[in-house]
Amino acid sequence: MIWLFDSGFWGLTVLKEFQDLLPQYDYCYFGDNARCPYGDLSDETIRQYTEEWVRFLFDQGATIVILACNTATAHTIRYLQQVRFPDRKILGVTIPGAEKVWESGHRKVGVLATESSVKIRAYKERVRFHDETILVQEIAAKELVPLIEQGKYHAPETIAATRRYIMQFDSDIEAIVLGCTHYPIIRHHIEAILPYMPLIDPGYESARKFKTYLSRHPDIEQGISRGGEVRFFTSGDTENFMKIGNDILGKNITCLTSLRP
Ligand code: DGL
Repeated sequence: MIWLFDSGFWGLTVLKEFQDLLPQYDYCYFGDNARCPYGDLSDETIRQYTEEWVRFLFDQGATIVILACNTATAHTIRYLQQVRFPDRKILGVTIPGAEKVWESGHRKVGVLATESSVKIRAYKERVRFHDETILVQEIAAKELVPLIEQGKYHAPETIAATRRYIMQFDSDIEAIVLGCTHYPIIRHHIEAILPYMPLIDPGYESARKFKTYLSRHPDIEQGISRGGEVRFFTSGDTENFMKIGNDILGKNITCLTSLRP
């Protein structure tokens, strides 16, 4: 089973990309809604929460865990892969996002992300890993997550905040990375402000890379159950999860189980 982990609802935007590209597999999605947002937490706390849940998901029988949350990935991926779970398969969204910057041949890109992702230079470091001459300008879009959490996707204040952040980028950036799970829902606002700017969506890139990853690892691919089923879990309120989840995915979902660490 493929498990996607996120701090809350919006990793569902990543799940959507996986389901669109790889509909044949079964998925489980877990959102740590009781402790969301992670973007305001300390490095240590993000590590602790993410590790706790990843361990739990493997205990539930996960074949592979995908960190759908940019913030959680940025703070934990190397530590989880190399130190805590060296024998397990864990992937995270920032890595395919950064790879796409490099593959596209951009020389300078902007990244919108949470404050804690920007603080640890989440994308800057990851892009440097491929090519240290690529310039990465990261902007902490502090107001966007709270506005989107309140459901104000189309509100004038959300459009105004998006414009304010986008305008902070240098005029010579060649693409913008949507470095947080919440931003695909406001993608059209960015496109309206900068119509010709290429946008990189790490969720989509993760699904694309995962597809090639599985073709290179038939042993793992064969261990993943098929059937196109999705099960949803939250550490928060299941009713609320279903309400917002329906909205994000554009279909009715059932979330019956509230998990506690
Ligand atoms: N899911 C997080 C991300 O992609 C944003 C929300 C949060 O702060 O928990 O960075």
